[in-house]
Amino acid sequence: MNILVTGGAGYIGSVVVEETLHAGHKTVVYDNLVNGHRDMVAPDATFIEGDLLDRTLLETSLRDHDIEAVIHMAAYSLVGESVVEPEKYYVNNVVAGIALLDAMRASDVSKIVFSSTAAVYGEPEKQPIEESDRTAPTNPYGDTKLAFEHALKAYETAYGIRYASLRYFNAAGASERCGELHEPETHLIPLVLQTAAGQRDFVEIFGDDYPTRDGTCIRDYVHVVDLARAHVKALEILDERSAIFNLGCGGDGYTVSEVIETTREVTGVNIPTRVSSRRPGDPAVLIASSDRIKSELGWQPEFQDLRFIIESAWKWMKTRSNGAVARKDA
Ligand SMILES: NC(=O)c1ccc[n+]([C@@H]2O[C@H](COP(=O)([O-])OP(=O)(O)OC[C@H]3O[C@@H](n4cnc5c(N)ncnc54)[C@H](O)[C@@H]3O)[C@@H](O)[C@H]2O)c1
Repeated sequence: MNILVTGGAGYIGSVVVEETLHAGHKTVVYDNLVNGHRDMVAPDATFIEGDLLDRTLLETSLRDHDIEAVIHMAAYSLVGESVVEPEKYYVNNVVAGIALLDAMRASDVSKIVFSSTAAVYGEPEKQPIEESDRTAPTNPYGDTKLAFEHALKAYETAYGIRYASLRYFNAAGASERCGELHEPETHLIPLVLQTAAGQRDFVEIFGDDYPTRDGTCIRDYVHVVDLARAHVKALEILDERSAIFNLGCGGDGYTVSEVIETTREVTGVNIPTRVSSRRPGDPAVLIASSDRIKSELGWQPEFQDLRFIIESAWKWMKTRSNGAVARKDA
């Protein structure tokens, strides 16, 4: 297929592009580089620097490359920022997303895979979380992702655009070429690795009095390569129908303390920590039920082992900085 990946120069998008190319799909990346990295786009992909709100460029890109399906990953995704700057999030994650759907309609592209998020569930009523559970986001970021899911449903009913919405849990790890490089960084594993590399003084643990096995929050980490492969599988189901899938590994998840301890083992570095109070809206446990994606898409995570996830991210960090982060290595 000919595929256009919005946000394909970002962390997850760059790995998705590696996997679509690997599966034999001709891949076009459409990214305005606001948070992306041109050098993370695979050399075999076509790169177009453009904004989703540039309707003319978007439609030309869809038509000129005979695009048959879109993987829509471009968005803003900082929860805290979305609370203080909701306009930025509604414009980019909803208004620009609708502009994409309308450009698809105008260009007769009728398949889309969407990067949704576990944040659509808010504070879940039970674990593991199933796709049929109540959606009740607790911040504008989650609201915008859920709003776009609603738009997808309406656009399918009215205009026949099929969608697969993938509700990611915590993407983590790296491929050989591509890894996590957000600015600012808010995700636990890169923060812990940056502390191991001496780029931060300590890791802040938000609460150690949760009802979990060691008092720290439990999250579901999915290796970015496993996550990317789910997109290739999701493209296939669009021949038949639309669907919503959780994209996490399920199981017991990992606590914040387990992530830090495993990173100490992987890097051989003592990682200072500081415990502060709980953050509002941080549930004790967030684990996906991955039954639906496993049974309906035949997706199976291969790299869910935490040690492997952290090793891949550490290796990538060192390669990216030509070994500079390794200065504290044991
Ligand atoms: N990282 C996670 O753990 C996680 C979890 C749940 C959901 N998600 C979702 O997955 C997607 C990718 O996340 P990521 O961590 O790779 O983020 P990222 O910021 O690294 O990538 C997003 C990319 O989109 C581009 N972009 C943003 N707005 C654009 C616009 N208007 N036009 C064109 N390009 C634009 C950015 O330049 C960037 O390259 C996002 O939609 C995010 O909400 C991520």
